[in-house]
Amino acid sequence: MSPITKKADIRPAKGKLGVLLPGMGAVATTFIAGVESIRRGHAKPIGSMTQMGTIRLGKRTDNRTPKITEFVPLAGLDDLVFGGWDIFEDSAYESAKHAGVLSNEDLEKVRPFLEGIRPMPGVFEPTYVKKLHGTYIKQGKSKMDMAEQLIADVERFKTTSGVDRCVAVWCGSTEVYREPSDVHMTLAKFEQGLRDSDDNIAPSAIYAYALLRSGVPFANGAPNLSVDFPAIQELAKQKGIPIAGKDFKTGQTLMKTILAPGFKARYLGLEGWYSTNILGNRDGEVLDDPESFKSKEVSKLGVLEHILQPHLYPDLYKDFSHVVRINYYPPRGDNKEGWDSIDIFGWLGYKMQIKIDFLCRDSILAAPIVLDLALYMDLAHRSGMSGIQEWLSFFFKSPMTPEGLYPEHDLFIQLMKLKNTLRHLRGEELITHLGTEYYD
Ligand SMILES: NC(=O)c1ccc[n+]([C@@H]2O[C@H](COP(=O)([O-])OP(=O)(O)OC[C@H]3O[C@@H](n4cnc5c(N)ncnc54)[C@H](O)[C@@H]3O)[C@@H](O)[C@H]2O)c1
Repeated sequence: MSPITKKADIRPAKGKLGVLLPGMGAVATTFIAGVESIRRGHAKPIGSMTQMGTIRLGKRTDNRTPKITEFVPLAGLDDLVFGGWDIFEDSAYESAKHAGVLSNEDLEKVRPFLEGIRPMPGVFEPTYVKKLHGTYIKQGKSKMDMAEQLIADVERFKTTSGVDRCVAVWCGSTEVYREPSDVHMTLAKFEQGLRDSDDNIAPSAIYAYALLRSGVPFANGAPNLSVDFPAIQELAKQKGIPIAGKDFKTGQTLMKTILAPGFKARYLGLEGWYSTNILGNRDGEVLDDPESFKSKEVSKLGVLEHILQPHLYPDLYKDFSHVVRINYYPPRGDNKEGWDSIDIFGWLGYKMQIKIDFLCRDSILAAPIVLDLALYMDLAHRSGMSGIQEWLSFFFKSPMTPEGLYPEHDLFIQLMKLKNTLRHLRGEELITHLGTEYYD
């Protein structure tokens, strides 16, 4: 018999949900334009679990497979209201034009709506994103002062838009690589650091602090620290707010987390995995800076090690070589080319090769993740869940975990965990996939 869980007390999704996006570039505007196009019936929400997904309940013979939207009380697309910050003053329309992801034809259909969405001035420090020279930036006496300004922005946004509650998804640029330092260890030290404008506090962490203080759940789509350090986790717990991260799992890493569990399931060995990316959007330009690339590299490299578990399978996975490159190549724009050359071995150690050339569209893959994260983070908040939301690991390249736990990277285990969490929230049996031989 599968474990039965107690139904959670979930506050209803009444009123409007504000989706706040620090960073309104390619991903954010593709997400906003997409939601508006779907609301108007121009397109379908392809790639979004919350909108397209179903969930099996009970035994296979029960034939109960509701849509996820019918099973858990999510905010509806018509109730989403968008806002955000950027370091350039462009409206969502101008930014989407510049990003070049969606065709002119698609953008024109939602143009007035996108023109009505203008970012609030961002909190920025050039040392954290060296390739950008923002012109639309807050000034303040200290980093705490900037955080207070962001808190005031959230309040103003709530009042003027009339939303009932908000969630935030970081869609800003990738910052330079930083390990957590002493100032990140406790909330008291972090707040002192904000007052002292400590150099180790990145802009993304100032947003995270301000949003959590405003009671807004925060999901991090980039590999930045943002909410991945003890002080901010202390704040999230103290205020009862969900946080999640980091780095949207899209093109190449998505493929890796689909394929590597398959190799492992069939006990095929891995000698090496060489991955290279060619991309020409603003994200690619930012990642052309070695320090920003380092954040991305660390986020991408952990995946195979955690899925393949070389310490448990030394004959198959000890010392495999894993190389990741990102090459900024303007002609490709947002249409990234992700090349993988994989050297595997089978029975008696005989070698084989697999080549993958994924001609993907980065922001097309990321936009539905922004939507799903916004809706699930809001659900988590209304369900009384707080701190790191591990059940949302499915959406991230480098899932955050509580201290002492290793992250789960296997896409299929992540999916099982996510759906079982939804079942748990609704007091349904968790599905174990035990065969009919063993019950009834
Ligand atoms: N597209 C994908 O598939 C994908 C996958 C994983 C992660 N990501 C991450 O998502 C983020 C967004 O990607 P994108 O393609 O939209 O990039 P982008 O360069 O088009 O957009 C980023 C936006 O953030 C703004 N920005 C930078 N610093 C800011 C700050 N401190 N405050 C406010 N705004 C700021 C920039 O001006 C820009 O408009 C990047 O960090 C990227 O690495 C993207």
